[in-house]
Amino acid sequence: MVHISERERQLPEQAIEKLIEIMVEDKSILSLGPGEPDFDLPKPLIAQIKRLADKCNHYSPAGGLIELREAICRKLRRDNKITADPENVVVTSGSQEALLLASMSLLDVSEQVLIPNPSYMAFLPTIELLSASPRFFELNEEADFEPSPDEIRKQIDPKKTKVIILNSPANPTGNVLKRKTMEEIADIAIENNLTIFSDEAYEKITYDGAKHISFASLNGMKDRVLTFQSFSKTYAMCGFRLGYVVGSKAAAEAIKKTHIYSTICAPTISQKLGIKALSLPKKYTDAMVKEYDKRRKVIVPRLNEMGLSTPNPKGAFYTFSNVKHLTNDSRRFAFELLKKAKVAVVPGTDFGDAGKGYIRCSFATKLPIIEKALDRLEKFVKNK
Ligand SMILES: Cc1ncc(COP(=O)(O)O)c(C=O)c1O
Repeated sequence: MVHISERERQLPEQAIEKLIEIMVEDKSILSLGPGEPDFDLPKPLIAQIKRLADKCNHYSPAGGLIELREAICRKLRRDNKITADPENVVVTSGSQEALLLASMSLLDVSEQVLIPNPSYMAFLPTIELLSASPRFFELNEEADFEPSPDEIRKQIDPKKTKVIILNSPANPTGNVLKRKTMEEIADIAIENNLTIFSDEAYEKITYDGAKHISFASLNGMKDRVLTFQSFSKTYAMCGFRLGYVVGSKAAAEAIKKTHIYSTICAPTISQKLGIKALSLPKKYTDAMVKEYDKRRKVIVPRLNEMGLSTPNPKGAFYTFSNVKHLTNDSRRFAFELLKKAKVAVVPGTDFGDAGKGYIRCSFATKLPIIEKALDRLEKFVKNK
C-alpha cells in the first residue's frame, strides 16, 4: 500500500468537490458554483492560437518569455502604478502556481502566515502543505467583509509572523479593499517587517466605480509586496493556465529557481497568447464586466428579498449570503439544496470556518440559468 503523507491527510476536504461529482451525474442541476468566466475566449485570441499552434513546442525560460515579461511590465506601469523590470516578474501556470512557488520560496517550516477568514479556498492548504503555520483574521458581514487592521495587528506574533495574504477584489465576499485600510495594513507590515501577498486575480472585475488599488503601488511597499495577477478572469483564459508574480528581484530570483523544479515554465503557447491578450483593447474585458454587472443587479436584490442577507459585491463575480436564520450548517444547506431543489451553491465553510452560515453563489453563469436557479432557491428557502 502506498503511504500517504500526514500533510496530505490533514488537507481539508472541500464540499465543492463532492458537489461537482453529483452535478456531473445529474444534468437537471442548475449551478451557481463556477469560479470561472462563462464567456468564450476573445475572438482575436482564438485566431492567434491557430497561428501559434506549430510554433510552441519548446520550453521557455523559467521566468517566462522576455516579450511577455516586458508586456507585463508595461501593463503594471499603466494599470497598477507598479514600476517593474522583467527581472521582477515570474510567469507561471496560473497565479495559483505563483502563490505556491512564492510560499515555498519565502516560508520556512512553522513560520506564520496571516490569512483572511473567509477567503479563497487555496490559501490555507497552500500554507499547510508547506508545514508553515496559518493564523486567521476574521472578516465580518457588518464591516462589508473589509479586513480590520486592529484584528490583523492582534494576530501578529513578532517572532513568527512573516506574511499577510490579502485578496482584492475578494473571493468569496466580493469586497474591494479601501485605500485607508490598505495604508493601515501597509504600516503594520513595515512595523513588523512582514511581506504582503496580494492576490489580484479579479483586478479588472469591479462595479459601481469601486477602484482596484495594487498594494505594491502604495508608498514604500514595492519591495515588501508580492503581487499575484492572472489572465484567467480578465481574458476568460482559465484553461490556458497563465498567471504571474511580481516582487523584488531577490524574491523573483528565488521563485524562478523553485519554478525550475516544479513545472519548469508556464506553457509556451499560453505565454504567446498572453502577449496578444495584453495588446487587446479594453472592450473585451469591459463587455464581460458589463454582463456580470447586469446579473449582479438581478441576483443581489433577489437574494435579499428572499431573506438571505447579501451585501452588494464591489468586485469579482460572487455573492456571499447569510443563511444563519435557517441554519449555521452551510454544508448541509448546500447538499439539501442540491438534492431537493437541484441548485448547486458553495457552502461558506469551504472558505474557512468564519463562512459558517453563509453560501456563495457565482454569477459567472448565463442570466436565464441564474433566474431559474433563484426561483428554485426561493421555493426551497420558503419551505425550510
Ligand atoms: C482569489 C483567487 N486567486 C487565484 C485564483 C486562481 O487563478 P489562476 O487561474 O490564475 O490560477 C482564483 C481562482 O478562482 C481565485 O479565486
